[in-house]
Amino acid sequence: MIRKAVFPAAGFGTRFLPATKASPKEMLPLVDMPLIQHGVEEAKASGVRDMIIVTGRGKNAIEDHFDVSFELEALLEKKGDGKLLAQVRQVTDGADFFYVRQNLPLGLGHAVLRSMDLVGQEPFGVILSDDVIDAPVPVLKQMIAAYERYSAGAVLAIQKVPKDAVHRYGIIKGKKIGDGAYEVSDMVEKPRPEKAPSDLAIIGRYILPPSIFHALSSTKPGAGGEIQLTDAIRSLIGKERVIGFEFDGVRYDAGTKLGFQMANIAFALKDPEIGPGLQAFLRKERLA
Ligand code: G1P
Repeated sequence: MIRKAVFPAAGFGTRFLPATKASPKEMLPLVDMPLIQHGVEEAKASGVRDMIIVTGRGKNAIEDHFDVSFELEALLEKKGDGKLLAQVRQVTDGADFFYVRQNLPLGLGHAVLRSMDLVGQEPFGVILSDDVIDAPVPVLKQMIAAYERYSAGAVLAIQKVPKDAVHRYGIIKGKKIGDGAYEVSDMVEKPRPEKAPSDLAIIGRYILPPSIFHALSSTKPGAGGEIQLTDAIRSLIGKERVIGFEFDGVRYDAGTKLGFQMANIAFALKDPEIGPGLQAFLRKERLA
């Protein structure tokens, strides 16, 4: 039902400088897989086929990553390294990749608007690869189920956050209507704590109707002087049913250095190849 997903990936990644001076932050690895591939794998596992990546200058490594590398595959085949070959093929298998440039840094809403022609007239997913979610069922798949169950126009992943963190998120006002689902009646981007309508924050997974593009094209710059996706979705309330959905899974804010390191440690500890070694090291050095 949801065949396309949009991946905004044009940001400068200033929080990770100097690492991101000449390489995209979306290519920073969690153990051995770039952040953006985690999002792409989640989309594939949720039934999405078309990956629409919104890039910018200096992001060529993303296009190369999601392309077949004949030389590398030939080398691994010759070496008979079936395991690595399978991992390399997994990157490009089961999906088609499309690119569009966001040539001005006008915000998340503007990035999504750039995907309008590639998305066309159908509902689609948006995945922010900064938000890494370790979930028993892929989060986008959980959201698609909620989208169908509630005949929604839009579904937003949400999670409770501490009061002193609300200024970093889009915050919803909603009424609980079922298992983790809220009927959204209002939302505000990056409110001050005293202005926040709740402690339910939007996390970087969305299912949106094609009408969002019209809304985005008339959305004025909001918080931080940027065209905010939150403001455009807010303008759909009343015309489309907007559902906030508390997903099942652990979310890491890999857009910050601390969250990125937490995600790396958590994923490394779960990795059968390096997990036991890392555990033993942390214990031996009394680091944990
Ligand atoms: C964006 C959205 C915000 C959302 C957040 C989730 O903010 O604008 O509504 O809560 O992603 O990660 P950003 O992190 O780009 O500032």
